Amino acid sequence: MKKLSKLSLMCVLFFGFFLLSTQARWHNHTKHSKHNHPHRISYISQPPSTSPGPTASYSPPPEEPKNPYNSTPGVFDVRSYGAVGDGQTDDTQALKMAWDTACQSESPAKILVPNHFTFMIQSTIFTGPCLSGLVLQVDGTIVPPDGPESWPKNNSRRQWLVFYRINEMSLQGGGVIDGRGDKWWHLPCKPHMGINGTTLPGPCDSPVAIRFFMSSNLTVQGLTIKNSPQFHFRFDGCRNVHVESISISAPARSPNTDGIHIQNTNDVKIYNSVISNGDDCVSIGSGCYDVDIRNITCGPGHGISIGSLGNHNSRACVKNITVRDSIIRVSDNGVRIKTWQGGSGAVSGVTFSNIHMDNVRNPIMIDQFYCPTKKCINQTAAVYVSDILYLGIKGTYDVRNAPMHFACSDSLPCTNLTLSDVELLPAVGDMMSDPYCWNAYGQLQTLTIPPVSCLLEGTPRSVLSDEIDHC
Ligand SMILES: *[C@@H]1O[C@H](CO)[C@@H](O)[C@H](O)[C@H]1NC(C)=O
Ligand SMILES: *[C@@H]1O[C@H](CO)[C@@H](O)[C@H](O)[C@H]1NC(C)=O
Ligand SMILES: *[C@@H]1O[C@H](CO)[C@@H](O)[C@H](O)[C@H]1NC(C)=O
Ligand SMILES: *[C@@H]1O[C@H](CO)[C@@H](O)[C@H](O)[C@H]1NC(C)=O
Ligand SMILES: *[C@@H]1O[C@H](CO)[C@@H](O)[C@H](O)[C@H]1NC(C)=O
Ligand SMILES: *[C@@H]1O[C@H](CO)[C@@H](O)[C@H](O)[C@H]1NC(C)=O
Ligand SMILES: *[C@@H]1O[C@H](CO)[C@@H](O)[C@H](O)[C@H]1NC(C)=O
Ligand SMILES: *[C@@H]1O[C@H](CO)[C@@H](O)[C@H](O)[C@H]1NC(C)=O
Repeated sequence: MKKLSKLSLMCVLFFGFFLLSTQARWHNHTKHSKHNHPHRISYISQPPSTSPGPTASYSPPPEEPKNPYNSTPGVFDVRSYGAVGDGQTDDTQALKMAWDTACQSESPAKILVPNHFTFMIQSTIFTGPCLSGLVLQVDGTIVPPDGPESWPKNNSRRQWLVFYRINEMSLQGGGVIDGRGDKWWHLPCKPHMGINGTTLPGPCDSPVAIRFFMSSNLTVQGLTIKNSPQFHFRFDGCRNVHVESISISAPARSPNTDGIHIQNTNDVKIYNSVISNGDDCVSIGSGCYDVDIRNITCGPGHGISIGSLGNHNSRACVKNITVRDSIIRVSDNGVRIKTWQGGSGAVSGVTFSNIHMDNVRNPIMIDQFYCPTKKCINQTAAVYVSDILYLGIKGTYDVRNAPMHFACSDSLPCTNLTLSDVELLPAVGDMMSDPYCWNAYGQLQTLTIPPVSCLLEGTPRSVLSDEIDHC
């Protein structure tokens, strides 16, 4: 095994040198770096014995370093593959080459996007499986082309950086991934960008900044991700995802800029992160289970959402979701479950615990009539919602809306909703709004503020039917 991996490392290095010698712009860059960044140079290709002696009256120019940036074995610096990092030059091929090389490494490999540089990367799919685990260490800044006009015509407009079929990868570092979303948000088709809050027709696709697809054992740690044209993160078909200590930000009025969207993904941990944006802080779509969210700060934005589920009469299953020890501030919603009429499947086993609300419009909400266009017809089928626990939800709400809103299906009521230690006060003044319930069954474990008297007791007959799909 040892021999093999040494051999492959040598191949990798050799391959690297070969590429470099064909890169004219590399040589220019090297000369500059000698003056500006001497600390980065390490003469991997130049044994110490060949150094010119200090007494020599004439020293031939030292051999040009072939690969000064890949000084540490297993570290693949994008500059070694020709990346310039001036924010203008297209560095896509360099990053892809670094990726492909690292991906072929049999021992754990790190791709380095170094500090103090800005790399412009086009829409790209980084594909696995790789021979070993990978770290993509982003210490510098990564940006896409600036807006729809500069986006190459043949590149996907729905995604920017895509990681596909990767097992064991860490996207980490102290750097910034800046989606430069501003020009996308102002496309006329975006909600509320027209005159008086209207939406105008026009091409509307906008790229998700970072998408993980069909991948597993992923960590995202430490980074700042901002101004995505659309969702900042999307995990789809993934398992074992750990997001830790990241910061996501976009303006409150940026449309559709969800912080982290997960779908068909399980074993998810989202911890110690701060998200402010123009849409959901975290959105949990169909097919997610075993999700644990802790110590996140959301807002401004639209809060934490499960859904929307059951769109176009689809079947949705979501279970075992916990959100705890978190803060939601200045948001349209706090913790929300939203389903379309006509869907099927179930949402069950959801716990919202120890969540502080600060001036939130709908702190607690279940909406089984979700319909952004307001043009949906009533249907009897519904995604069944049950076993939802609200524990220690405290803080203030915006009195324009009810602090608690449980709007459940006529045919398939929500059941076993539990409220415990809920205290929600108006953010301004002392006029309270009443909680709202429609076909919502459940119980109070403690008295709540405001008092809730609209929950129905027991279990309705309709949910005892064998025909209910519990997923
Ligand atoms: C190298 O640098 C010179 C001067 O800065 C410039 O004129 C030339 O175009 C550069 N060559 C490449 C390949 O970037
Ligand atoms: C897009 O077009 C350019 C130039 O025509 C080509 O080099 C590139 O490979 C194309 N990219 C894709 C993703 O098809
Ligand atoms: C926008 O709203 C204002 C005030 O409600 C109204 O006077 C104006 O005519 C509206 N503009 C359009 C284009 O609808
Ligand atoms: C993810 O990691 C676990 C534990 O290291 C491993 O058992 C599992 O096979 C990995 N997942 C995949 C899809 O390889
Ligand atoms: C919660 O997350 C913040 C970062 O948002 C971090 O500074 C803090 O230490 C975390 N608290 C705990 C108890 O881990
Ligand atoms: C629920 O998810 C957590 C992880 O968030 C996991 O530890 C636990 O075993 C799951 N519970 C069930 C009943 O599957
Ligand atoms: C749909 O059902 C709701 C709740 O029963 C009712 O308030 C609403 O008027 C209905 N809408 C239509 C279009 O029938
Ligand atoms: C009601 O939901 C709680 C979790 O919120 C669960 O522990 C309990 O078993 C459920 N009760 C029934 C009767 O299903």
